[in-house]
Order: sequence, then C-alpha cells, then structure tokens
Amino acid sequence: MRITTYPNGPLIVRGGGEIDLRDAGGAPVANTRRTVALCRCGVSAIKPFCDGTHKLVGFTAD
Ligand code: FES
Repeated sequence: MRITTYPNGPLIVRGGGEIDLRDAGGAPVANTRRTVALCRCGVSAIKPFCDGTHKLVGFTAD
C-alpha cells in the first residue's frame, strides 16, 4: 500500500487490494475502491473522502 500526499490536496491511498478504512473509533468505513482520495482540508461533504472542495476553499499545505 502506498499513501501519497498531494500538495494543496488529499492523501491518495493506493493498495494492492481492497483498502480497509476505519474511522477514529475503529468502525469500518464503506469502500470498495483500490485507490481512494482522503480529505486533508476538512471541508469535504463526503468525508473521509475528498470531493474536490479543497480547491474552492484555497486549501494549502505542502
Ligand atoms: S482534500 Fe479535497 S476536499 Fe478536502
């Protein structure tokens, strides 16, 4: 599995198979994709996934 941080954007998680996502309490997060974009800006309407809103709000991070 590889996690890549995109400047001013999400974390891209690429795995060799289905990615087992868990919330802060350890509960499973429904996901069937092999690649997911996780929100890093905090404003996505579909957290924990990125919905592209980071561009609209001008999120910046290395
Ligand atoms: S990082 Fe894309 S919406 Fe938050």
